[in-house]
Amino acid sequence: MADQLIDKVKELLKEAENFSVETAEEIEKYRIRILGKKGELNALFAEFKNVPPELRKEYGQVLNQLKTAAAERINQLKNSLYSNSEGSESAEDLTRTALPIEAGSRHPISLIKNRIIDIFSRIGFVLSDGPEIEDDRHNFTALNLPEEHPARDMQDTFFVHKGPDYMLRTHTSSVQVRYMEENQPPIRIISPGRVFRNEAVSSRSHCIFHQVEGLYIDKGVSFADLRQTIMHFANEFFGEGTKIRFRPSYFPFTEPSAEVDVYWGLENEVDYRMTKGTGWLEIMGCGMVDPNVLKNCGIDPEIYSGYAFGIGIERTTLNRFQIPDIRYFFENDVRFLEQFGPAI
Ligand code: DAH
Repeated sequence: MADQLIDKVKELLKEAENFSVETAEEIEKYRIRILGKKGELNALFAEFKNVPPELRKEYGQVLNQLKTAAAERINQLKNSLYSNSEGSESAEDLTRTALPIEAGSRHPISLIKNRIIDIFSRIGFVLSDGPEIEDDRHNFTALNLPEEHPARDMQDTFFVHKGPDYMLRTHTSSVQVRYMEENQPPIRIISPGRVFRNEAVSSRSHCIFHQVEGLYIDKGVSFADLRQTIMHFANEFFGEGTKIRFRPSYFPFTEPSAEVDVYWGLENEVDYRMTKGTGWLEIMGCGMVDPNVLKNCGIDPEIYSGYAFGIGIERTTLNRFQIPDIRYFFENDVRFLEQFGPAI
């Protein structure tokens, strides 16, 4: 009797090792027949009490072997069924729709930068750029910021080398200097680029950001020309009829200097937060290029005059898309980036 039981288990064990089926249903049927609640294995365990004590050890061992072997076999069959069906589908169904190709999207900073370039290039400004590592002359001295000038504190600097000083440029105004050194008026340039300041990173400011610098030098250029150009920009960028205002300000490289605000509105809570309750948003610094700067760059201020401006791209982009935190721009999180389409 006990021998018969052991033989039966050994038979099932052999079956488990060689067992092979084609479909998931057949595998499931087998699982129920062997491992199910009312299956062979449980029935054989129930026979335990009928096995004489001296054979119980062997009986227990073969039963456990059967249990493991059957479970393993079921797993193997399931796995091969799964990979086969995947493989055959992709190899055989040549008519199925292709998987979509995921198109990337432009970075929001690039979108805004390109938009600004576009607006100015349509009124005759050409692109120009300069290095991100600058010397003292191009970043500061030639821009009327001599050493020890207190206005240098306005821009905390990352130095790369001291004596002679090299630094990560703190603004794109350095490109003005480079361009004027190489070219005589008329000059109309627009210079987008990355700038760096040793500032604490928060939701509203970062140590890396982008600016677009503009420079226009010719005979007889006046503040009225500056105003007209900025008004044109604001109408193009923010929409026809946008209100702007010029606030007197100070920059060492321009005289007079101004900051430009655009009227954003005060209709909801976001407007209040973004404009600090005033309804006005600052969009750029600008002014008439200081005669000293022209002189420093080899342009005769008795003959020529001009204006310059600097637009902060992050600030403009945060506002344009109502983005709550400047740090998103640098984290390369696809969930953020994919929200900005190729066009605005
Ligand atoms: N360079 C200034 C800054 O980084 C911005 C700026 C202000 C640029 C006035 C200009 C200008 O060209 O005329 O804060």
